[in-house]
Amino acid sequence: MTTSSAPGKIILFGEHAVVYGQPALAVPVSQVQVAVTVTEAERAGVWIEAPGIRLSCGLDRLPPDDPLAAAISAVFSTLGVAPPPACRIEIQSTIPVASGMGSGAAVSVAVLRALSSYLGRPLDDAQVNRLAFEIEKLHHGTPSGIDNTVITYARPVFFMKGQPIETLRVGTPFTIVIGDTGIASPTRLTVGAVRAAREAEPERFGRLFAAIGEIVRHARDAIESGDAPALGPLMDENHALLQQLAVSSPELDRLVQAARSAGALGAKLSGGGGGGNMIALVAPHTGDRLARALSRAGARQVFISHVA
Ligand code: MEV
Repeated sequence: MTTSSAPGKIILFGEHAVVYGQPALAVPVSQVQVAVTVTEAERAGVWIEAPGIRLSCGLDRLPPDDPLAAAISAVFSTLGVAPPPACRIEIQSTIPVASGMGSGAAVSVAVLRALSSYLGRPLDDAQVNRLAFEIEKLHHGTPSGIDNTVITYARPVFFMKGQPIETLRVGTPFTIVIGDTGIASPTRLTVGAVRAAREAEPERFGRLFAAIGEIVRHARDAIESGDAPALGPLMDENHALLQQLAVSSPELDRLVQAARSAGALGAKLSGGGGGGNMIALVAPHTGDRLARALSRAGARQVFISHVA
């Protein structure tokens, strides 16, 4: 039996613009996890159990472009294993689905690791990251690669599409509160909407992406120099630009506003938008109070995450 787990993730700054070559900052969130267990099976073939999405079937019943089937098949083809051994793959997840916390990428990473370890030839981080990126394309067409990268390496990252991974040094730890609107919003839809809007207004969107990129660079300096409070106004500015990209929603705006009214240093949506999660930066020891305020304002789930 082999088990492997992968954390969720949150984008601090730079979502959407990162798809068009701007940098972004993301951190792992270990309060939520995917755990994958592979065990020997008596019956021939590969059996999959994913109770969270009510899936219980053989690998041969899934279409080859299903992301889960693709992750499993990628391990067999990369390692040259044919035919696949009789085994059972069980996936348990506490990461909210379609919420901007990287559940799809975390499933891919944990499956790639657990299955390759089960076969006695664990894939290294670079292989896991590369294969998980290919699977992200099935989830949402034109991913930047930030989700698979931050989840594979489980470290805060400064990410630019196609560039070598840069780990972010956190000068002084800080706390964010994550509030989930409870509204599932597949990234593929908001990424597609931004793409269509950009095609209609390339110059305006180019300016918005560049402005987000500037915020990301300032945020990186603030994080690395230990000036966490400076991140608050940068979050507010980033949220305003995401509103101009039309990826916020009334529910996200309500939680962002509630966080600011309750004393957060800044707040913004996080991830694809349209629903899913928002984040708020809080002063030390005020996370619980803000979490309660977000719950009162309608957040379905709230997580307090320390970035270090
Ligand atoms: C999704 O977590 C972040 C987006 O920027 C899409 C991507 O980078 O692939 C919206």
